[in-house]
Amino acid sequence: MTFKVLGIGTSLREGASSTTALSIALDFAKKHGAETRLLDLKQTPLPLYDPTEAKSSPEIKKAKDDVIWSDALILSTPDYHGSMSGAMKNFLDYFWAEFAGKTFGYICASHEKGLTAMDQMRTAVRQCYGWSIPYGVSVSDSEDIVNGKITPKLESRLEMLARDLVVYGDIIRQQFVKDLDSASSNTFASRYRK
Ligand SMILES: Cc1cc2nc3c(=O)[nH]c(=O)nc-3n(C[C@H](O)[C@H](O)[C@H](O)COP(=O)(O)O)c2cc1C
Repeated sequence: MTFKVLGIGTSLREGASSTTALSIALDFAKKHGAETRLLDLKQTPLPLYDPTEAKSSPEIKKAKDDVIWSDALILSTPDYHGSMSGAMKNFLDYFWAEFAGKTFGYICASHEKGLTAMDQMRTAVRQCYGWSIPYGVSVSDSEDIVNGKITPKLESRLEMLARDLVVYGDIIRQQFVKDLDSASSNTFASRYRK
């Protein structure tokens, strides 16, 4: 089975550098053997999550289908006040068990390094029993994008992220699926058995 990587773009800015970098990372994931999809929340806006009302819309359905389809995800956000975009947090709020046993990579467009924004995404993912690649890729549009083209240095960081996500993510996912199917009750996957 081909490993499936879903990218989540969460800047609503036209020509967003975080989404540009994400698209390039997905191309690299494809080069490393994965099937990929991009869920760009600018094109697929989600209503504000409301736990008291099970809303349905074509956009919510698409987001759910894409997340369930995925084996691993790349979360990409602009740095807003040292944190993730509201669109990203709202996206994360829609999911919980769907993230368990999947590995996540992180991209943040920032004037600084976006470390706190990436840490906060990591916290949300850990809370849902997702795994995280231990580093993230930060994108500075003034340094990493020259005349609309990304620099070789950023390209190299994005390729490393894509490669590591495909390689490590596949190992973790395969073990999680194996544990789901096994009879053992003392594994973290066992609580997700239906
Ligand atoms: C509401 C808002 C808050 C921001 N806060 C920060 C910040 O705390 N630190 C920072 O480095 N950049 C901050 N920025 C700048 C953006 O992170 C930066 O321009 C980023 O490259 C935008 O990414 P995008 O092109 O993917 O939309 C902020 C921008 C906006 C609109």
